[in-house]
Amino acid sequence: MDDREDRDTPGLPRQVPSEERVLSSDEERLLDELGIHGAARRRFLSQVGAAGLGLMVVQMLVNERALAASPPSFAPPSPRPAAPLENALRVSFKVNGAPQSLDVDSRSVLLDVLRERLELTGTKKGCDQGQCGACTVIVDGRRVLSCLTLAATLEGREVTTIEGLARGDQLHPMQAAFVRHDAFQCGYCTPGQICSAVALLEEARRGDASHATEDVTAAAVPLTDDEIRERMSGNVCRCGAYPGIVAAIQEVHSGRRAAATWRYATEEELARARTGGVPTPRGAEDTDEAV
Ligand code: FES
Ligand code: FES
Repeated sequence: MDDREDRDTPGLPRQVPSEERVLSSDEERLLDELGIHGAARRRFLSQVGAAGLGLMVVQMLVNERALAASPPSFAPPSPRPAAPLENALRVSFKVNGAPQSLDVDSRSVLLDVLRERLELTGTKKGCDQGQCGACTVIVDGRRVLSCLTLAATLEGREVTTIEGLARGDQLHPMQAAFVRHDAFQCGYCTPGQICSAVALLEEARRGDASHATEDVTAAAVPLTDDEIRERMSGNVCRCGAYPGIVAAIQEVHSGRRAAATWRYATEEELARARTGGVPTPRGAEDTDEAV
C-alpha cells in the first residue's frame, strides 16, 4: 500500500503531505533564514510534518541555529542599535580594552549603555540612584557609580567592568579571594563589590585618605579592617556577606592568606544563646530544667 493512502481517512479530504504543502510567506521566510532549499527543504518539511510540529517550533529551530552560530561569549560585544534617539551624540571610549563608538542619548547613564547597548549585564542595577553601589565600575582606575555617570562624559576614557577583570579562565586575584572567603551569598552586589575593592587598593596605594585614616599625610595608607569597612561602606550587601568581603580584600592587600573571620559557634555558645545567656546547669541539658 502507498504511504499516501495510509494517511488518508475515508470521508475526509485527502491530507496533503507536509513536503507538498503550500507554505505561507512566514514559513517561506523562516526556511530561507535557515538556508534550507530544494531537496533539503522537502526533507525538512516531511520531518516537521511527521513530528506534528508547527510554525512555532520551526521558529525555535531558527533561534537554536542562530544561537549555535553566535560568537563565543568572550568576544567583545558589538553594540546593539539604539532605539530612536533624542539629543543624540557620539561618544568613543574603551570598555574592557575594546574601543567602542556609540550614538547615545545625551541623558543616558553608563549603567544603561553597558547593560542595554553593549549587553554587559555583569554590572547590576540596584537602586538606580547612587545609594547601593551595585553598579560600581572602574573608569580610568577610579571607581564610579555607573547609574550616576552620564555616558556623554566618557569620551576618550577607559571603562573596566566585572567582565574585564579576569584573564580568560584565570580569575582576578580579588575574584579568587571572594570565592575563597565565601564573600557573597546571592551574588547580586558582588560585581560592584569586586570592582570597588580593586579600585580601593589603588586608592590606598596613592595615599587617598578616608574618614577612618589616622595619618592623612602618609604617602600610602595601610588598610586596616576599619579602613576597608569605611571605604567599602558605599557598597551595600543585603545578604550581609561583610566579614568575608573584608577578609578577601585584606588578603589581596597583604598578599598573605588571611584567617577566616567567621567560625561555627561552639556547643556551649549555642546552649548559652538558647537560654538567653543564663548558664545551663551541668547535666540538666536534657531535662525540662534546661529549657
Ligand atoms: Fe547605582 Fe545603586 S544602582 S548605586
Ligand atoms: Fe547578596 Fe550581597 S551577596 S546582596
